[in-house]
Amino acid sequence: MRNQVIEQTENYVRNELGEDATGHDWFHVDRVRRNALHICKEETTGDPFIIEMAALLHDIADEKLNESSEKGEEKLESFLQTLLLTDTDKRHIKQIIETISFKGGQRTTLSTIEAKIVQDADRLDAIGAIGIARAFAYGGKKGQSIYDPSISVRNEMTLEEYRKGKSTSIHHFYEKLLKLKDLLNTDTARKMAESRQQMMVTFLEQFYREWDGQV
Ligand code: ADP
Ligand code: NI
Repeated sequence: MRNQVIEQTENYVRNELGEDATGHDWFHVDRVRRNALHICKEETTGDPFIIEMAALLHDIADEKLNESSEKGEEKLESFLQTLLLTDTDKRHIKQIIETISFKGGQRTTLSTIEAKIVQDADRLDAIGAIGIARAFAYGGKKGQSIYDPSISVRNEMTLEEYRKGKSTSIHHFYEKLLKLKDLLNTDTARKMAESRQQMMVTFLEQFYREWDGQV
């Protein structure tokens, strides 16, 4: 039964996100699902079914991929209604998805281990080599520059500023990506983050060297 629900969800998400070019494509979702299940196994905690479902659906209601956050929620809700699951499971899956987004740095406390694990898995996919690729893909799609040394790094910002303010993809590393490792919830994710963090640090060093024409 649960296998069938997973398969139905995979098909739905593949269909919904297939063509996305902002870094929220099906492969992102699949990596988040696999990382989340890996963390769950290593930590020997959390319900793997809830984790897998929340990972698969975590970007469906995203306000950036929908007309509005309300429209996104409605979409998620109507898909959940088609599934043969208990209301408790549906509520838990929805609650995880609502609470895990980064949204400019406002920290929300996550109440369940399943939410913590899916959040870690999503954050791991924003850092490292994949994170670098996604940042420039997203930045390009948004029309923002690769880098502009005259723009200063924003520290505290509202959600509005985070989404709309003028910035560059290199700035995004300081505004979000380099901070993510300290926001992880589980030891397994912290271990997985080490080489990814190192990759970003090395990338930035080399980037400035080439920018300054020293290489
Ligand atoms: P969140 O929903 O957690 O705020 P997003 O969905 O906005 O994250 O991020 C999707 C991907 O695009 C991530 O890899 C993220 O780092 C990247 N991204 C988001 N905003 C920017 C930006 N302003 N510049 C470059 N990359 C970005
Ligand atoms: Ni995501």
